[in-house]
Amino acid sequence: MNEILKFPEDFLWGLATSAYQVEGGIENCDWSTPYPKNGGRPAGRACDHYNLYEEDFDWIKKLNQSAFRFSIEWSRIETEEGEFDKKEIEHYRKVLLALKKRNIKSVVTLWHWTTPLWLAERGGWANKRAVDYFVRYTKVIAEELSNLIDFWVTLNEPTVPFIPGYLRFGYVTGHWPPQKRNIFLAWKVYRNFVRAHKKAYQIIHDFEKRAKVGITLDCAYVEPYYKKSPMNRISVFIWRYLHNYLFFDLTKKYQDYLGVNYYFHNRLKFPFLLRNENKVVSDLGWEIYPEGIYYLLKELKKYQKPIYITENGVADAEDKLRKNFIRDHLFWTHKAIKEGVDVRGYFHWSLMDNYEWGRMGGFGPRFGLIEIDYKTLERKPRPSAFYYSEICKNNGFGI
Ligand code: BGC
Repeated sequence: MNEILKFPEDFLWGLATSAYQVEGGIENCDWSTPYPKNGGRPAGRACDHYNLYEEDFDWIKKLNQSAFRFSIEWSRIETEEGEFDKKEIEHYRKVLLALKKRNIKSVVTLWHWTTPLWLAERGGWANKRAVDYFVRYTKVIAEELSNLIDFWVTLNEPTVPFIPGYLRFGYVTGHWPPQKRNIFLAWKVYRNFVRAHKKAYQIIHDFEKRAKVGITLDCAYVEPYYKKSPMNRISVFIWRYLHNYLFFDLTKKYQDYLGVNYYFHNRLKFPFLLRNENKVVSDLGWEIYPEGIYYLLKELKKYQKPIYITENGVADAEDKLRKNFIRDHLFWTHKAIKEGVDVRGYFHWSLMDNYEWGRMGGFGPRFGLIEIDYKTLERKPRPSAFYYSEICKNNGFGI
């Protein structure tokens, strides 16, 4: 070992989840009914994190985490239009207090892809009133819980419709709820996301001036397949703009930090054909390309905002890839920091195995540092969990 890579003081070391993927018992949202087109099934009991959160937080503490990202389930809070369930608000208060007690900072997502049934039945995010509904829900959470929340994520991955993600699968290919195939509707939803974020940002700041509010954006590192081909380079330019920059550009003044989810690397062949070498892939066939995070972070430096890597992880049931995956992504993140990019935290996806969205989804893919036995609900940390935990404890690692 020749060199120790130390991260900045107060760097946040975290793990991430979302309500629908781990909590279980969410019956009142658009993902809770079987969806014939994707052949998927609802998450059902999932990891029963809703009831076992204390036990899970003990693990987070044992794994030396300083922060935890999770989402509040809108459909639990607002069961019918305008009806807010006090009991569920109390539940999340207890969750937040349980984190505080352990001295773990909270990063709270308000919407992580599930929409209450009452809203889904009224056209979901395409309804022009969706923005007001979201803002009203945000206000309730801010009123009740803002004193316990350290970081806010209004929306998870409001990615443009032509790139794989919520809008593409939900409104273009029709594989995910609400199973539409209408690009105009998709752009309407996108516009509503922009508005919803801006308004929610203001509402939260009205309650808590010093609140840290942002979104998480699925950012990919893309490069031209033929480096010298002008057409390939133009495709990359457009792709990067739409995928990595557009939402941040439209909401620049309303972001206290940039939340970046990094999973993908793509090579583009004109017009937008993806051609990857895929030398090392995860159980989902996704290419593993750690240096991509470095190039991406360097690109995002232009916004001059603090950056948090709010998700980065790998489907790897046998835990063969995860340790190197973590080390290598952190190595490249550290290099970006050394070269002046203001990265202030890293959240591994995920604390535990959980429900994965969509066609390839269900409980097959294993993203967890902690393995879940879905029959017994037993939690068992994988070796990579202890590896990551050591890095967090030492705020760095040797190479
Ligand atoms: C989403 C997570 C998801 C992960 C892996 C991210 O885009 O925010 O909910 O589990 O990707 O697919």
